[in-house]
Amino acid sequence: MKITWLGHSCFEIDNILIDPFITENPESPRTLDQLKPEIIAVTHGHADHLGDTTELAKNDCTVIAIHEIANYLRSFGINAIGMNIGGTVEIDGKKFIMTHAFHSSGIDEADFKWSGGSPAGYVIDIGARIYHAGDTSLFTDMKLIKELYTPEIALLPIGGVFTMGIKEAAIATSWLNPKIVIPMHYNTFPPIKQDPQKFVEAVKSVCDTEVVILKPGESLDI
Ligand code: NI
Ligand code: MN
Repeated sequence: MKITWLGHSCFEIDNILIDPFITENPESPRTLDQLKPEIIAVTHGHADHLGDTTELAKNDCTVIAIHEIANYLRSFGINAIGMNIGGTVEIDGKKFIMTHAFHSSGIDEADFKWSGGSPAGYVIDIGARIYHAGDTSLFTDMKLIKELYTPEIALLPIGGVFTMGIKEAAIATSWLNPKIVIPMHYNTFPPIKQDPQKFVEAVKSVCDTEVVILKPGESLDI
């Protein structure tokens, strides 16, 4: 199984695409016609996460999102499954557990009558357990995520400004204590410029987790 980083918070794992921010992402290594996801998981309504979901989900695709965003997507005829924080949805043996994220979630592209509900993260259990934190600050319930779901791989934002930065993400790594952490949500735009080597050093000072730095388009085999 491969985890491919498509820049920002977008990852392709098997037939799953998380937060498909493609056409407006200056770092995207793919174009829309190169992607055929069967499942899309959306963490929140911001344009850099909901991204190209409506376009990509038109054909034979199931979208997983929080209740409010799922309702919004259904208004376009998209097959969307609504869920909420703490819940689990299973599709073809793949489990999606929705977790807290401390952030905001207005749907940038929508009229104000649509609420984006709460922002979220996911633990995705596909044999390996992968935690995608979404956009979030550090929060102590990450210890509960570790206790309940023991993720082996964590995908954590490190860009700062809109999410936690390197210092906080290193502490998150020590609390989650996965085998591997992959940083995301950095170097897409000038405000979230970061040196990922500094994240490697910060993690090394608090725990034994291996930091894997991917370039957009690169994959980790698990
Ligand atoms: Ni956001
Ligand atoms: Mn974001």
